[in-house]
Amino acid sequence: PASTAPLPHGGLAVGGVPLTDIAERFDTPAYVLDEGEVRGRCRTYRDAFPEADVLYAAKAFLSRAMVRWVQEEGMGLDVCSAGELELAVTAGFPPERIVLHGNAKSPRDLEAALRLGVGRIVIDSPSEIARIAVAVGPHGRQKVMVRVVPGVSAGGHDKIRTGTDDQKFGLSLTDGGAQHAITRILGQPQLELTGLHCHIGSQISDVKPYLVALRRMVGLMARIRHAHGIALPELDMGGGHGIAYRPGESALDLTALARRLRAELVGGCAAARLAVPRLAVEPGRAIVGPAGVALYRVLAVKHSGEKVFVAVDGGMSDNPRPALYGARYAPRLIGRHSTAGPCTATVVGRHCEAGDILAADVELPGDTRPGDLLAVPVAGAYQLSMASGYNLVGRPAVVAVHEGTARVLVRRETLEDFRNRDIGI
Ligand code: LLP
Repeated sequence: PASTAPLPHGGLAVGGVPLTDIAERFDTPAYVLDEGEVRGRCRTYRDAFPEADVLYAAKAFLSRAMVRWVQEEGMGLDVCSAGELELAVTAGFPPERIVLHGNAKSPRDLEAALRLGVGRIVIDSPSEIARIAVAVGPHGRQKVMVRVVPGVSAGGHDKIRTGTDDQKFGLSLTDGGAQHAITRILGQPQLELTGLHCHIGSQISDVKPYLVALRRMVGLMARIRHAHGIALPELDMGGGHGIAYRPGESALDLTALARRLRAELVGGCAAARLAVPRLAVEPGRAIVGPAGVALYRVLAVKHSGEKVFVAVDGGMSDNPRPALYGARYAPRLIGRHSTAGPCTATVVGRHCEAGDILAADVELPGDTRPGDLLAVPVAGAYQLSMASGYNLVGRPAVVAVHEGTARVLVRRETLEDFRNRDIGI
């Protein structure tokens, strides 16, 4: 997790900066991102996958500094909208190292991808084949991949399982949809099919489903070679690598994943007499999740029947994950040393919904009171990137910490921002 160091009097430092200083200087709620931790995680991937491309999945969290960090650490980038794409390219990311995903790419997405020259477009449905070919024009050629659904069920919650045919992404291996699309793509001179892609789900803690998926993808590659006489040079196995959110939970073992994927790939290709394609992985959560800490101020404490509610100055608009996926976190009191015994409390947000819960039934000091600061570790992924404008509470600031200094990456949303967008009086 973020390079935290306990301080005297119940304090906590991240990236060498006390969180209490950040709350004072930048106000709360704030998302603190440890640059060293992000870079360290990129290096862990580069070391574990020396023969693969590692693409950071921008949907987990995107800012221009983040783009620069992952670029400097030798990663590629996975984007899924013109917005993510343009932010990345204007921050200096080389477009040829970007892959565009999406089950419903808009005309704007495709226009931006072709104008900026993305490295690969991942085809997700049959209707895209002709659309992309037409957009490329008679003289151009665009590298594409095909997203295949390998029929493997994996992922931390039903809403983030994408490996089987009962969800919206990709083309089915089981019903022949993928094979059919591939034949059509190969007939389009404007499209160069470089390989296959699959992404079976997110927050996966076991290596096994990846191995099953990989075996099926290699099987499909062998059939493509047999039917069309071509060996596709690339295989992208997507992301989904699980992380630990609370003490005692365990993350997916990346070294084991890398080693066993490699062995399975080399063995499978040898058996099918296929040239070994270049492997790619697309982690998002595992790069940025553990590098983030959310910082809230307690606004109210209420005893209601058996329950204790600790209400903070953020909530489901900056972290919808508990409401969406039943995600669990381990908030902790920081900034003062409490001698009170623990009590079981539910940390709630400030939004107008009973479901606005950040952490149900967690242990906090019995004297937790308004004015206290709460830190929520492992808050870097899919929180701010899924933040909403609900109740016009405003999106929190993002503060980067590195070697003892702090700076704002993304400023807090203000009343002026709300007024500026609302132009229709
Ligand atoms: N590649 C593709 C094509 C994806 O769709 C995703 C995530 C990734 C890579 C990165 O997956 P990761 O390594 O971050 O698990 N909002 C949910 C997670 C949704 C993931 C969507 N796709 C959550 O908060 O748990």
